[in-house]
Amino acid sequence: MNVQKNPFGRTPDGTAVEIYTLTNDKGLKARVMTYGATLVSLEVPDRKGKSGDIVLGYDALEGYIKNNPYFGSIVGRYGNRIAKGRFVLDGITYELATNNGENHLHGGIKGYDKIVWKAEPVRGDGDVGVKFSYLSKDGEEGYPGNLNITVVYTLTNDNELKISYEATTDKATPVNLTHHSYFNLAGEGDVLAHELTINADAYTPVDAGLIPTGEIRPVKDSPFDFTTPHTMGERIALVEGGYDHNFVLRSGGGMMDLAARVVEPKSGRVMEISTTEPGLQFYSGNFLDGTITGKGGKAYLKHYGFCLETQHFPDSPNKPNFPSTILRPGAVYKSLTIHKFSAR
Ligand code: GLA
Repeated sequence: MNVQKNPFGRTPDGTAVEIYTLTNDKGLKARVMTYGATLVSLEVPDRKGKSGDIVLGYDALEGYIKNNPYFGSIVGRYGNRIAKGRFVLDGITYELATNNGENHLHGGIKGYDKIVWKAEPVRGDGDVGVKFSYLSKDGEEGYPGNLNITVVYTLTNDNELKISYEATTDKATPVNLTHHSYFNLAGEGDVLAHELTINADAYTPVDAGLIPTGEIRPVKDSPFDFTTPHTMGERIALVEGGYDHNFVLRSGGGMMDLAARVVEPKSGRVMEISTTEPGLQFYSGNFLDGTITGKGGKAYLKHYGFCLETQHFPDSPNKPNFPSTILRPGAVYKSLTIHKFSAR
């Protein structure tokens, strides 16, 4: 196993960006860079042992800086939307940056996907990784409290990519960190033939601005029922705009449990996601429209990638019936997600 650091260019203000290449003994290779603590590429063998890159993105840093719909990024301080960029906490009304119509999305105008993180390699028994850290200042994008964050990516010899998060604060604040890779287990084309299973009996319906209504609705007899495998495309026409919904995981969160399994029939690649989070946002790449030219000069058309973002539910700070995302001084935010790869 190995971890190697290389330069990956500079941001417009001259800050150096580094990329770390993690390799295990089974043919998996992950590249993560300090800009956005972003997973830039992930090479995984198919059933014949042929490696392919299964995440969308760019060949060079420039693309990520110019136009990045969160390809591979760490997202925060709050992943997904907060209605009108506003919430009340301990009697105080906080106003966040709004960057998605009238709403706050993925941490605001300059979220964690757009900052250069500190990084150091880590080596364990049977794994290699990179530890990223960032101090998100009190008031950043409107959030209260200095938030000290670490995010560790590790690659294991069991063909797992683990992402573990920790954070502490000096004022009460909402925290909801996630990872935003766009996967395509075939490595090309659209993802509609990928077979998806989600361990969720309910989901959170949304309004026209993709804000949850507050309802927790059973998936039974609906296109949201992935309790048994269905292709992503089978019922997508029945979902207005495509899938972009939070699923309420059976585990309830707080413990490690299998959240989803994706099988790509042509390559045989399988990805299983386990998490301690109570929710999973399934996004079927609906806003990709061919205007982005990604790796290898290929245009990313609608549904060319899917995201499965482990998280708390969108707009939780305004939804008292959703699991709380409030971190208080003295407490430690902890979250773990594991992507396990195989082929059949
Ligand atoms: C998330 C959101 C989507 C979209 C993408 C990024 O998955 O739920 O609505 O904003 O991020 O384009």
